[in-house]
Amino acid sequence: MAQPITTALDQEQQRIAGDALCGTVVDLIDLSLIAKQAHWNVIGPRFRTVHLALDELVAAAREFTDSAAERATSIGVSPDGRAATVAEASGAEGFPADWQRDDAVVEAITSNLAAVITRLRQRIDATEKADPVTQDLLIGITARLEQLHWMWQAQLS
Ligand SMILES: [Fe+2]
Repeated sequence: MAQPITTALDQEQQRIAGDALCGTVVDLIDLSLIAKQAHWNVIGPRFRTVHLALDELVAAAREFTDSAAERATSIGVSPDGRAATVAEASGAEGFPADWQRDDAVVEAITSNLAAVITRLRQRIDATEKADPVTQDLLIGITARLEQLHWMWQAQLS
């Protein structure tokens, strides 16, 4: 198909930034689904705190999914947030089925966040020259996810 959306980036810059953004979209969709799964299935004495903190994470992941997807469209790259694509390409760690104890949920969410953040930091490096505007967005997303990662880690001690 002809490219309907044009960009000032050259082909290589567009490819690098597009890959970084599309990978971020996939990871964040998965993270939002994992956090909702945990929100519904958490049990234990810390239920309420964890249940509410999970929705804070869902809100952030959904908002950033949209930011990354619309940055991709802004540079002429078609984002792919379909379930099959997310299942195949996500770099999040996943989450077990069934009820989960609060402590196990905190551990699982902390390590999922760490996995997503590691991939974001690689994309920050990758986009530095190719597209600083995309890099700037990824830095903002990473800063907020690292803040949330701290808050989840603090619950482990
Ligand atoms: Fe809810």
